[in-house]
Amino acid sequence: MELPFAESYKIKMVESLKRSTRQQREQWIKEAGYNLFNLKSDYVFIDLLTDSGTGAMSDKQWAAMMEGDESYAGARSYYNLKESIKNITGFDYFLPTHQGRAAENVLFSSLVKEGDILPGNSHFDTTKGHIEFRRAVAIDCTIDEAKDTTLEMPFKGNMDLGKLENVLKQYPAEKIPCIVLTITNNTAGGQPVSMENIKGVAALAKRYGIKLLFDSARFAENAYFIKTREEGYAGKSIPEICREMFSHADFMTMSSKKDAIVNMGGFIAFREEAAWQACQMYNIMYEGFITYGGMSGRDMSALAQGLIEGTDFDYLETRISQVAYLASKLDEYGIPYQRPAGGHAIFVDAKKILTRVPKEQFVAQTLGIELYIEGGVRGVEIGTLLADRDPVTRENRYPSLELLRLAIPRRVYTNNHMDYIAAALKNVFDRRESITSGYLIKKELPIMRHFTVELEKA
Ligand code: F0G
Repeated sequence: MELPFAESYKIKMVESLKRSTRQQREQWIKEAGYNLFNLKSDYVFIDLLTDSGTGAMSDKQWAAMMEGDESYAGARSYYNLKESIKNITGFDYFLPTHQGRAAENVLFSSLVKEGDILPGNSHFDTTKGHIEFRRAVAIDCTIDEAKDTTLEMPFKGNMDLGKLENVLKQYPAEKIPCIVLTITNNTAGGQPVSMENIKGVAALAKRYGIKLLFDSARFAENAYFIKTREEGYAGKSIPEICREMFSHADFMTMSSKKDAIVNMGGFIAFREEAAWQACQMYNIMYEGFITYGGMSGRDMSALAQGLIEGTDFDYLETRISQVAYLASKLDEYGIPYQRPAGGHAIFVDAKKILTRVPKEQFVAQTLGIELYIEGGVRGVEIGTLLADRDPVTRENRYPSLELLRLAIPRRVYTNNHMDYIAAALKNVFDRRESITSGYLIKKELPIMRHFTVELEKA
């Protein structure tokens, strides 16, 4: 008999989960202003809000924490991390930051000025926020195919090279501080970017004399997809593929809370010394001295180890297989989602399910609330709430996709939990025709409103 697939790790420590009743959940979500971010985590049974900072650290990472060096300057932990980053990315220079958006803040403080243009493949919301906050413009050049959730494509996160070149032709080089390539493409569904596409983007960047930035939060998952889906890469190791990917970039921002499997942390890495130096002042002002920048020594040590574990093939296979397993359950129940399954999450196609909820009433958010009430499962809306208002007209922006993201934390849940999630979603799916109205905004912030918005029933 062929041996079945099994996880590449075993469990050493556990955390209890709290069950609740439907009635309790109805009350709690109402009190939370129908915003899943406002719920106490104790009110959640399975938390798929994000895969960011929610992973389980390994015994080796906890051991590394005990060896953390808390020196203000020149800590051993900093040098451990520097070596880990160099081995995996090839970059010689780096600045630690407390998380990914802090890396964006520091880098963009040095690079981006009012009126600048930053083309990319679906900038993440904090990235877009940091660009628009500086009165610059993020232009989305993702391939159109990413908008069709039914289309099966190996690299649906790719940049459309034609769209990108149009932007590069239209604006002078000094107005474009960098191109932002997000690997994997979170917003488009955790979809990977092929090496071929990376090379194409890099060639255009070079031709037009523009720097290339990788938003690298899930770079290892991207490398796994290149290895398993792209011709010519099956025989290469994940670290080899990572180094090849990064060889095309000038700098990278990293939210270490994702593929480096730590609960907090980030960094910026640079090829050129001058770019690193230009950011130092901002790092010191916003984050901390250049050898700790927002991270304690122990956190840098855990991160150095996490980068090694996060690029281990067996670990990545376990992780991506779990996401694919959840997808296979949804297939069984006929529930539509962004195909193929992404690296870190399933993006359920809310618009195809709640066809009777008007788009002004936040379709994906409505599905998220129903799933929470059904089974205590917390996902997150990637739709109109997240898209914010147009910075000029202040009108709602209606993205072409209304998705409910079910992000799977790393090394946390078992496949029994996946079965539970799928069953809860199936129950909502089965009563979809009875859901005819959504929610209206009571209170919102001018930027990144989805985190704190308060809603009421329409
Ligand atoms: N870039 C990408 C692609 C991200 O997904 C995130 C965070 C960031 C940058 C910002 O990093 O959170 O460390 O400041 N994404 C989380 C998510 C929040 O749930 O997808 P951060």
